[in-house]
Amino acid sequence: MEPSSGEQPGRSHRPSRRALLLAGLAGGAGVAAAPVTELIRGLVRPAVDADDRIIARTYSFNAGWLFGAYADGSDQERYDDTGFRPVTLPHCVTPLSWRDWKPSAWERIWVYRKHFDGAGLLDGRVLVDFDGVMVNASVVINGQLVSSHIGGYLPWSAELTGHLRPGHNVLAVVVDSRWLPVPPEGAANGPASVDFLQPGGIYRDVMLRLLPDAFLSDVFAQPADVLSSGRRVDIQCTIDAATALPAPMQLSAELSDGTRKIAATRTLNTLPAGATIIGLQLTGLGDIELWSPQSPKLYELTTTLRAPGAGTHSVRQRIGFREAAFRPDGFFLNGERLKIFGLNRHQLFPYAGMAMPARVQRRDAEIIKNDFNCNMVRCSHYPQSRHFLDACDELGLMVWEEAPGWHCVGDAAWQDTVLQNVRDMVVRDRSRPSVIIWGTRLNETSDYPDLYYRTRQIARELDGSRPSSGAMDHYSVKSWSEDVFAYNDYHREPGDNAGLLSPLPGVPYLITESVGVQWPQPRHYRWIDPPALLARQAVLHAQVHDIARSDPRYAGLLGWAAFDYASLLGPGGDRIKWAGVADGFRIAKPGAAIYLSQVDPRVRPVIVPVFFWDFDGEPAPGGHGPGVMIASNCEQIKIFVGGEHAGTGLPMLDAELYGHLAYPPTLVNLPVARNERPELRIEGYVNGKQVAMVRMSAGPAGDHLGMAADDTAIVGDGSDATRVVFRALDAYGNQRRFRTGDVTLRVTGPAELVGDNPFPLGAYGGLGAVWVRSRPGESGPVRITAGHPVLGQAEVQINVLPPSCQRLT
Ligand code: GAL
Repeated sequence: MEPSSGEQPGRSHRPSRRALLLAGLAGGAGVAAAPVTELIRGLVRPAVDADDRIIARTYSFNAGWLFGAYADGSDQERYDDTGFRPVTLPHCVTPLSWRDWKPSAWERIWVYRKHFDGAGLLDGRVLVDFDGVMVNASVVINGQLVSSHIGGYLPWSAELTGHLRPGHNVLAVVVDSRWLPVPPEGAANGPASVDFLQPGGIYRDVMLRLLPDAFLSDVFAQPADVLSSGRRVDIQCTIDAATALPAPMQLSAELSDGTRKIAATRTLNTLPAGATIIGLQLTGLGDIELWSPQSPKLYELTTTLRAPGAGTHSVRQRIGFREAAFRPDGFFLNGERLKIFGLNRHQLFPYAGMAMPARVQRRDAEIIKNDFNCNMVRCSHYPQSRHFLDACDELGLMVWEEAPGWHCVGDAAWQDTVLQNVRDMVVRDRSRPSVIIWGTRLNETSDYPDLYYRTRQIARELDGSRPSSGAMDHYSVKSWSEDVFAYNDYHREPGDNAGLLSPLPGVPYLITESVGVQWPQPRHYRWIDPPALLARQAVLHAQVHDIARSDPRYAGLLGWAAFDYASLLGPGGDRIKWAGVADGFRIAKPGAAIYLSQVDPRVRPVIVPVFFWDFDGEPAPGGHGPGVMIASNCEQIKIFVGGEHAGTGLPMLDAELYGHLAYPPTLVNLPVARNERPELRIEGYVNGKQVAMVRMSAGPAGDHLGMAADDTAIVGDGSDATRVVFRALDAYGNQRRFRTGDVTLRVTGPAELVGDNPFPLGAYGGLGAVWVRSRPGESGPVRITAGHPVLGQAEVQINVLPPSCQRLT
């Protein structure tokens, strides 16, 4: 219930919480963050029940920070921060280009400061939740150190209770972004010893929680026996009580589907001070819809603690009912064999490092599930954004989650952090239906039997329902003890072909990486590379998935990788690993063809030519080799060159090639005489009916600059952002090979450009992207225009909506 803003007389003899809260969190020291305090003013609502007891609330605390380099005293209250820069979270400590990141730019100590008014925050408990800060952090409130945290990938909370004052308060977060002995970092060789770069900052969300003296610090909801009529939900509640509660508190749980209540339960307990774990169980659920990639049904679980004299705290979670089992003869979801078809994802983005907001994180899951038709993603090599995982739950994208690590293992203290990371990872995500396996063994490390025994034990104790694993680069079960054998298989066959080693007998067997870039020797898939090389990436991914599908003992395969990412191990001056089937801007390369086409044509008929129809400076695509690939889910492909029927292609049902894929590609020869510039038309047929058509223009007459934004509206909170892609296109909207000129961008309206301007469209290979981010508290229409010296102008418009409320729950 949202209480009205009116005073209710006679309820309390002291100034009510409501009055205090209505005084707002605005104010502070009149610092540069004024627009943000405006934003918060009036949005922190009274959170009290009829007896003036606290109803827990969560607010975004992303806006209104000041940021600068750490100096002595800069975490102290009276430090002069007038020279600091106002920033909104998520935030990266250094500006970045799309390429050539230099770790020296972030390897320092930084400080974020936030001035806020403590009115309304003096009763109950106040916590600040950090979703992720790279690398180590300490939290100082009004000069008092209240919390510190090691490691950049997991959340933690700092309790401010007892340290706040009415009026002005200063929260300082000191962020150490140096190369530290913390997983996955620490190796003597510095950032070049890990394959991906890790720019520092408060790069995920921060929330402020107002809580009663006793609250639910964790709720673990575990659906059990889901395939039987005795299915139930086991709920383990951890309650944190500041003091012992004299009267019994009520703990209740309710499972619902929209407005339909399915089951409920409650208990009464007295509570000692400190942490108490109480179990609840929901039974008698009746028929339940199962969660799966095809039908990711979610139910809502609300767990509520009502503590007389303290207040009310509710935790809402979405849960799903599914049974996921790895066996030596494959992977089984809800009792049925399902071949895992997926990709690895890094959370790095051009320009922003890891600091992208919820919308952009969610978008990655949409791309991987809806565009690339994957049923699983590996979060390589660390726990990823909860927004990304929320989208995985919603979309039915199964998740491999692993503790931060890559190749190296450090000393005892370093290994203790691994244990803590596994604990925090499992606790954070164990109620999610999408997560089906824990990576408790760090990626491609040698055998550390003690360490991995302990990580497995931790995961098992905290969550008995999911198997443990860890991606291996050695093909042997000697001193291997995880539940699922996971192998990074970069095996090759003669003639530039991909192969896979056979599944090891008697163990569940999953391919966690394949193809990548180090094969057959280091090579990369940039937009400027020869079309035949870009097409080869599609062939290799098709080959390994085909093999994985040929034998039921492969649980499935996760290709390396979904998106390009910043790395010192990348070639030349770019410092990018061009391993993605899409680039860092998340634009599908030819290498993504086989992923794009693995969808039922009734959902979406697809035709992806794995070549450019462009003859200027390039050999004609059909002029050499055994033919070019067209990836499609159609039963038949008809090809017309210059209006003439040039061939009819059938999918490669020959098992030697791609016959195990759900939708094998077609290989065709496209006869084009020298000096001709014919148009290409490809028609796709299902059940004898034409369902799709692609046209490609060889002539440059219709070439133009295309531009598109992912969203028509974003929210004016200073964090929200949307991607804007610009590309050289032919008359029909196909990507053109285009090697000259820059794109110059102009943004008008209440938003900022996150990206390089001008952008070297030609040098990048004929396309590029930026993100457009809102400004805190500003709204209105935004126009983005792009101009290229040859391709002309393009324009998109988006709307920035006023942020209605900073309250999250
Ligand atoms: C693997 C590694 C991945 C990535 C890949 C590069 O060995 O696990 O993180 O580095 O190689 O192609």
